[in-house]
Amino acid sequence: MADLLAGERVDGWDGLGVVSRVDAETGAGIHVALHSERLGPPSGGTRMKSYAGASEARRDAQRLAEAMTYKWAAARFPRGGGKAVIDAPDGLSAEARDGLLRRYGSLVRELGGRFLTGPDVGTSPRDMDVISQTGSPWVFGRTEAGGGAGGSGGWTALGVFVSIETACERLFGSRSLRGRRVAIQGAGSVGADLARRLADAGAEVEVADSDARAAERAGADPRIRVVPADGVLARPCDVLSPCALGGVHAASIPTLACAAVVGAANNPLAAAENAGQIAARGILYAPDFVVNAGGAIAVTGMEALGWSAERAEAAVRAIAETLTRVFALADEGRITTAAAARQIAEEALAAGR
Ligand code: NAI
Ligand code: PHE
Repeated sequence: MADLLAGERVDGWDGLGVVSRVDAETGAGIHVALHSERLGPPSGGTRMKSYAGASEARRDAQRLAEAMTYKWAAARFPRGGGKAVIDAPDGLSAEARDGLLRRYGSLVRELGGRFLTGPDVGTSPRDMDVISQTGSPWVFGRTEAGGGAGGSGGWTALGVFVSIETACERLFGSRSLRGRRVAIQGAGSVGADLARRLADAGAEVEVADSDARAAERAGADPRIRVVPADGVLARPCDVLSPCALGGVHAASIPTLACAAVVGAANNPLAAAENAGQIAARGILYAPDFVVNAGGAIAVTGMEALGWSAERAEAAVRAIAETLTRVFALADEGRITTAAAARQIAEEALAAGR
């Protein structure tokens, strides 16, 4: 691997640094962004997809690493913020892809514990097994057969589910989801699992996915209604749950027809001012890095800290308490819920735990 670009930074990014490499065999760009080690070693998923260019990929790694710092801090979990992005060309053969993952694993090993990783969009527990062949012992979210805790999507969905209950309690005075309408953008590992949990709880569930096969799989459950991906953000509902890539942006805010936004997507707001714009419309926003911490907490807890599944479940369910504190602090301080969540995370960072 040869060194790639040096130095370009996101305006205002206050992280530790980014290690960027080009994988000569496939042409893929690899960007490992280390944001903070205040609470523990920088730790975050490996996202694999094709980007428009190296600087876009590196920026995404930086923003996602920053979100991980706040995610671990809000959960008071002993890890720092980091994230890896593999900007891989489309259409790699399975063999070429595995080779890339193994070379990426060597980089993780070279970093010697300064970066710990797990799955994210575009990578699976099986991929973690492959990365682990060269990157062990710094790779988590492996398959159960590979000695890991398995996929993180179901745990993340549980955290989103208890967050939706918490938002409903605040808006409607009851945690019951019976008859509540929830529209989910993205029926992937988190969205599909969340849809099932919500249907089990008696909610009216709509899902939309830009991949027709993913939508069809989710819609095989007769309790789950598939709606077009275009316009899902404007569905009239109690809770809109962005569980895809991206999410709400300035142009979509005037069209939102929900009472709350509670989803798994990392960095679902295109710009910081979107939080205020959503609040100004009287819509409750549950901050992403509080809501979506379940997978990272459970998988890392079980694989690295020796937690039982029961302990992991209790830690994920505790997201409801953190979110309740976020809503209370936003009220008290007359600030947005996004600012309140940030404040709670910053307090944990300042206290070093
Ligand atoms: P996934 O890749 O399994 O599923 C995402 C789904 O969204 C795919 O089916 C894709 O076709 C669909 N999609 C993409 N763009 C769309 C659009 N514009 N409209 C409708 N559907 C669209 O990903 P996963 O694991 O379910 O993650 C979902 C989101 O949650 C991501 O943003 C991820 O970063 C975030 N997240 C996931 C965690 C996990 O444990 N899997 C943990 C924390 C956050
Ligand atoms: N993709 C996870 C997230 O964004 C990160 C993660 C998963 C980290 C599993 C470690 C283990 O929260």
